[in-house]
Amino acid sequence: MSNFSTPTVGSPAWIRLSEAAATTRDVHLRELFAADPNRAQKYTFSAGSLTCDLSKHRVTDEGMESLLGLVEQSKLAEAITAMFTGQTFNTTEGRAVLHTALRATRDQSILVDGHNVVHDVHEVLDHMAEFANRVRSGAWVGATGQRIRNVVNIGIGGSDLGPAMAYEALKSYSDRGLRCRFVSNVDGADLYEATIDLDPAETLFVVSSKTFTTIETITNATSARTWLTDALGADAVGKHFVAVSTNATKVREFGIDEANMFGFWDWVGGRYSVDSAIGLSLMIAIGPEQFSEFLAGFRTIDEHFRTTPFAANVPVLLALIGVWYRNFFDAQTYAILPYANELSRFSAYLQQLDMESNGKSVDRDGNTLRADSGPIIWGTPGTNGQHAYYQLLHQGTTLIPSDFIGFLTPNHPLAHHHNLLMSNFFAQTEALAFGKSAEQLRAENCPDELIPHRTFEGNRPTSSITAPRLTPRVLGELIALYEHKVFVQGVIWNVNSFDQWGVELGKALATAIGKELDPSFDVHGLTHDSSTNALITRYRDAR
Ligand code: F6P
Repeated sequence: MSNFSTPTVGSPAWIRLSEAAATTRDVHLRELFAADPNRAQKYTFSAGSLTCDLSKHRVTDEGMESLLGLVEQSKLAEAITAMFTGQTFNTTEGRAVLHTALRATRDQSILVDGHNVVHDVHEVLDHMAEFANRVRSGAWVGATGQRIRNVVNIGIGGSDLGPAMAYEALKSYSDRGLRCRFVSNVDGADLYEATIDLDPAETLFVVSSKTFTTIETITNATSARTWLTDALGADAVGKHFVAVSTNATKVREFGIDEANMFGFWDWVGGRYSVDSAIGLSLMIAIGPEQFSEFLAGFRTIDEHFRTTPFAANVPVLLALIGVWYRNFFDAQTYAILPYANELSRFSAYLQQLDMESNGKSVDRDGNTLRADSGPIIWGTPGTNGQHAYYQLLHQGTTLIPSDFIGFLTPNHPLAHHHNLLMSNFFAQTEALAFGKSAEQLRAENCPDELIPHRTFEGNRPTSSITAPRLTPRVLGELIALYEHKVFVQGVIWNVNSFDQWGVELGKALATAIGKELDPSFDVHGLTHDSSTNALITRYRDAR
């Protein structure tokens, strides 16, 4: 795929953008809104049931045209086709990138090496649905004949963040008689606390790992198996453990019957896998019908992304706005601020999606990048953030663009709470954009010495993303929106968004150090730097 290796920095489109940014840097959002009474309408776009108001971004019409010029130059259209048609887009691992096939309808055909992968996808979905229905109905019982009331997903990274986030987001659609928990950290506290109040006889473990070799997951799964067999005996494993993986051999070795394994494929990246079998715990919680709705949401945005002209293509526009601030306004971070408590894990989910994808410093051909790539993604639900870090968003010295996300109707009956929540959403984007000037403060008789402290300079950019209600379908739409945003940015920065070599070094060193922590290892044999040697020695001495 090196035909996408178009150098962007220094190209005519990049130079044009630098010029547009230079003339925009001193323009205030107050001026942009005053100059164009239609600005909100002009910069509001729809994708599926999502409405995305981008008018409070510091982008002029000329800036937007220049950004769209960058897209043309980046050969985005060709890249989209390459991804959707299963070409080897992940070149460093020699794989297709086909998470979009996970939500294809049964009648579609997408070929990888001449094989229709959509058929496989639906075979697994059917298997998942059959199993989820049995657990939900009580037809699947544990070793003692009791029905399953607790589902514990054991996984990490993409095998945890997606289902954990989506379960929180869609709790109001879940069977309240089932409790789902998510164990990821190798810190024993995670598994210990997650199981301390559970009855093994009513507990099902879903061991989720693409590779089935990830040390955290295998350690947690092994300890969970001991917890279970101590209570119910070795024969109980088959009724209390299922696996989600691409590695049948390792699953078998662990002692899980292959009939209770739910597969996926190497063309699904971990951080793009929530809609694969990795979503099994979610499907058990919300049921196969709602899971289909979830997939339909992804599909809607896939269609939008594939077919909408770039000037109205929401993932493309969000990506361009991110590039604008990252490369031309020196914004190092981007905040995700959901005004929905159910999305409490959404920013954490997007951290992996975005930062593991685009946190790269070489291009697809291995050349050092000449421009910055992915930003730091962070955020927590409003209004909690308002009482913590929004001070810096409003008056700090760092530009932090952000996406506000909210829903017009809540999933709970406390309507007056929702008015308060959403009034904060709207007020914050207004305050961030327009601020409060010294003149306004003087008119309010603010003492002179306090004016600098109470002035809000404004011009702090936000997107306002709203949807009618947080449903499984809408959650699928939101996730796909960000998946494609990350894809577009990867194409513009010309990085491979689908590998993650940066996680390997730490893993390898941890394996080596793990052996050195064992008392049988001769401490005189430590060959690290003096700091690491001292840390290891201090730990060994304390044990
Ligand atoms: O952090 C690296 C990583 O490989 C992620 O990309 C992945 O989601 C996670 O580890 C878990 O991997 P697995 O599903 O193979 O256990």
